[in-house]
Parts: sequence; C-alpha cells; structure tokens
Amino acid sequence: MACFVINGQRKIEGEMTVQGAKNGALPLLAASVLVRGKTVLSGCPQLTDITAAANILTYLGCKVITDGDVMCVDSDSAAGFAVSDSLMHEMRSSIVFLGALLGRFGKAELTAPGGCEIGLRPIDLHLEAMRSLGAVIDEKGGRLVCSCPGGLKGTRISLSFPSVGATENILLAACTAKGETLVVNAAREPEIAELACFLNRCGADIRGAGESVIRINGVKKLTACEHRIRQDRIAAVTYMAAAAVTGGKLRLNFSDTELLMPVIEPFEKTGCQITPDEKGICLKAPERLKKFGMIRTMPYPGFPTDSQADLAVMASVAQGTSTVVENIFENRFKYVGELRKMGAQIRTENRVAVIEGVGRLSGARVVSHDLRGGSALVVAALCSEGTTVADGIHHIDRGYEKIEKQLTELGAEIYRKEQYDG
Ligand code: UD1
Repeated sequence: MACFVINGQRKIEGEMTVQGAKNGALPLLAASVLVRGKTVLSGCPQLTDITAAANILTYLGCKVITDGDVMCVDSDSAAGFAVSDSLMHEMRSSIVFLGALLGRFGKAELTAPGGCEIGLRPIDLHLEAMRSLGAVIDEKGGRLVCSCPGGLKGTRISLSFPSVGATENILLAACTAKGETLVVNAAREPEIAELACFLNRCGADIRGAGESVIRINGVKKLTACEHRIRQDRIAAVTYMAAAAVTGGKLRLNFSDTELLMPVIEPFEKTGCQITPDEKGICLKAPERLKKFGMIRTMPYPGFPTDSQADLAVMASVAQGTSTVVENIFENRFKYVGELRKMGAQIRTENRVAVIEGVGRLSGARVVSHDLRGGSALVVAALCSEGTTVADGIHHIDRGYEKIEKQLTELGAEIYRKEQYDG
C-alpha cells in the first residue's frame, strides 16, 4: 500500500492556488444527471472521490469526458436509475445521487451507505425528506428501492438537524417537483448556495439557499449549463495549518476569502498574521504558535468539523493548552492516537480533546484512518523532528489533489512510495 515519507522541519513558504472544492463538485456532478444536456464543470479537482462520481454517471449512461480540470457530462443518453453496490461503496457521499435520480426518472435504486470512519452517518433525514416529497422507499437488505407513484410534490420539510447532504438531496429532488417546497433549518454551507446557483442557471427557481429557510418552486424542465467550481475552503485551511506549524509564510490564491472567516479567529489567536489581498490571503506564522483556547465545531458559519484535526495539530505544538469540541460527528478523533505516537499530549473524552502543546513532535510511523485526520497527520509530520511514514494515504487522495506535489513546491520534503521497506 502506498504511503508518504516525510522529512520534517522544512518551512512551508511560497504561493499556491487552492484546488476546486470536492464537496462543491460532488453535488454538482449528481445534478448533471438531473438536468438535460451537457454540463461543463471547470475547476474540477482530480481526486478519487470525483472519479467515483464520474464512474456512477457513466454507469447510469451519461457520457463523461474529462480534460484536465474540466469535466463534461452529457446526460441525454442517461437511461439507468440504479447504481450498483460496488459503485455506491466507493464513496459514501454517493447518496446525493438519490435526489437527482428521483428528480430525473421518478425512480432510484441504490445502496444505503453504512457507517464510516468518522461516525455512524445515518441517512434518516434524507429518506424522511424524500418520503415527504412523495417517494416510496423500500429498504431491502441494504438496497433502497425508490419510486414516486404520484410524482414528486412540493411540501414543507423541517430538518431536525441542518444536514448538508439531506439539504442537497432536497434541492435536487424538489426543483422539478410539482408546486412549492419549503425547507426549514436547511444547511447553510457554501456548497448549498453553489448547488442552488447552478440549478437556478439551469432553469430552477430556488430562493434563500445559504440561509436557513429555502423556497423551491418546481419547474418543468432543467437545461444544463457551464459552471466553475469554487475553491476548496477545507483544503485551504490544511495548507494554512502547514505554514503555521512550520513557522512559514504562505500566499494563498483563493478567490472567496469570506469562506475562510470561520477559521480566521483561531489562526490569529495562535499568533499567525493573516492579511487579505487582491488575490486571496497571506499568512505569516510566528516562530512558535500560541494556544487558540477553544474551538467548537458547528454547522456553517461555525467552525468546520473538517478542519478541527488541522487545528489540533497546531495546538499540539503551540504554547499552552487548547481544547477542541467536536459537535458534528461522533468519531472524529481517530487521528489523536497517531499524533500521540509523534509525541503529542492529548486527552480525549467523548467529543472533547484537550491538547497540551509540546515543544516539538517527532517523526513516527502513523496511519490515516480518514480523509481529514489523514491530512492533519501530514501537517504534523511537516513540523516534526526526523522522518514520518504515513500509511493509509488513499484516504487523503479522496480530497487533496497531488498534495505531495503542492507541498514539495512550498519547500516540504515529502515522497509518495508504493511500498515502504523501512
Ligand atoms: C458533509 C461533507 C463533510 C462535512 C459535513 C459536515 C460532503 C461530501 N461532505 O457531509 O465533509 O464534514 O457535511 O459539514 O459534502 N445526520 C443524521 N442523519 C442524516 C444525515 C446526517 O443523523 O440523515 C448526521 C450525521 O451523522 C452527522 C451530522 O448529521 O453527525 C452532519 O451530517 P451532514 O451535514 O449530513 O454531513 P454530510 O452531508 O454527510
């Protein structure tokens, strides 16, 4: 199995352009089967999760052409509404095809994703919402067989939690449903507003996306259009953390700096200077980070759960004690055991991690258990004394485009090895 070998203590310095957002691209790829004609998505990151979504589209009969960061999906030839078990298992987020398939064909057959590395991740909110729009869902041995005998009809849906995926599925299913759908307590993540913006340009009538209440007026027809995917706010934070822990200086070309607002304050508390400019932001790290105190992960615009591991690494090498409270997923501290192998002083209890900063981490053999925990281990390795070997990097490849190349260009010593013989 492939791994990264990282020789630490090289400053991360220079300029980089952040990749397109994985979490933005995935619902747009699902939407491309809903709308008729050729969707052209530029700024598409090259990631295994994106390939998995493209494989699903091809399986459904769409023509998919990838040219660099441009992905063109022609859905006119789509005929299938069932996704195989093996394709569904490639990526948990493939559940977002449910709303798109129901909207396009009035039918969908897919596998219910099981629990994953970071928690149980049930899909009850997705299914409840689809049912209230008129879907009949039969759950047989893990397969979801869905139909809409009377067609999809607009309704009022109050989410008990502002789930990102459930909100996306509602938008996809409701924009061609009959009548008006009102979503209360919708997720406000930027990816929701982006999906709505794309669908509206295809002819949908969605108002309020990005806020807690969304109104969707069903339309008869959606026609594909071109769209540039926004940059990845989560990957941006990982590179910022890499510069922060190595005492570096990074200019990040990132066009939507307001998306980084939820993370700016804790970075500044650690002593990092963050200056916005016309291209994005410039981060200058102090020689030694200070504690940030406490972060609590929350739905957007709160502190993102996907960035808590990066901040925990910063706290591990900072002066003083910091606390991370994880409010979104129940199993998001698996990276802590690996950081301890590197000398980090972290105590966890349920959803709370208390991190006592140590002067320096030491290279070790560690393993990524999930995507964001994995990239945080790379960040830790960059500032550690000696060599770190990180296994399980297929998780990192799901969300970071050529991370080793990006970091090498910024001064890191990181190599991908197909096998490490020690
Ligand atoms: C998306 C993001 C993920 C991010 C998360 C929270 C994508 C591809 N992934 O995941 O990177 O960490 O938002 O910002 O965009 N829940 C239920 N029942 C449901 C649905 C969700 O109980 O039917 C729970 C989940 O188990 C979790 C919480 O709600 O504890 C948040 O999940 P959700 O917002 O749905 O996250 P995802 O869409 O899976």
